[in-house]
Amino acid sequence: MIPLSRALESSIGRKFVMSISGIALVLFVIVHLLGNLTLLVPDGGVAFNKYAAAFEDLGPFLYVIEMGLLAVILIHIFWGVTVTLKNRAARKKAYKEGIKTKGGPSNMTLLSANMIFSGIFLGIFIVVHLWHFRVRKVTEAGKIYVEGQEMTNLYGLVVEAFQHPGWVAFYMAAGLVLGFHLRHGFWSAFQSVGAMKPEWSGAINAIGMFIAVLLAIGFLGIPLYLFLM
Ligand code: HEM
Repeated sequence: MIPLSRALESSIGRKFVMSISGIALVLFVIVHLLGNLTLLVPDGGVAFNKYAAAFEDLGPFLYVIEMGLLAVILIHIFWGVTVTLKNRAARKKAYKEGIKTKGGPSNMTLLSANMIFSGIFLGIFIVVHLWHFRVRKVTEAGKIYVEGQEMTNLYGLVVEAFQHPGWVAFYMAAGLVLGFHLRHGFWSAFQSVGAMKPEWSGAINAIGMFIAVLLAIGFLGIPLYLFLM
């Protein structure tokens, strides 16, 4: 039996970790977008604030979920950077030894270059985003009474942010970049976990494209709509 650490270090193991963490993150962004769609309900924020309050009601369990999510994000980033660096080093070594590779010594494939740059942008976005809404929910959001119950006015915080063209542009860019990242990520995730059969490739490609386009439209559409409203 190969020890777990060695198995995870292998190229297949690393791809597997990327795929499973990536799929978990896709599920998170789908749920996140569905929840954010309540921002569009024309009720002055009642639906969105109630939705956010439902999470608060989870109490300490919410922190457990948040820490789990953070761990998955960090694993995905750490492994993504490691895989890219190792692939690059292998390509350089192969070039030096005169073994033919698809690109030159420092030429990453277009796909991996795309994934690492869109990934870096999304990593920066998440740090800014967590401060912008998650931290400021605690430090800056006011309170509001909804049906006699006191709640955090997260709706007010979000709507105020999207009155500023700079924030709208930043979030719209994130929606677009997320779409590109998922478009390629979805495809390679299913290739890696071995779920891919040649006869399924067309369908998997189409599903990946469909999810990527829907998420991009949703995430870039919400800030734009709230800005123009
Ligand atoms: C229309 C665009 C978006 C809006 C309006 C939005 C809104 C929010 C809000 C209000 C929160 C705080 C929730 C709370 O503490 O109750 C939040 C948390 C979060 N968002 Fe977004 N978000 C958007 C896009 C994204 C994107 C594109 C990603 C990922 C790439 C993302 C990842 C996260 C994460 C990881 C959290 C922390 C979850 C938690 O701590 O519970 N968001 N978002």
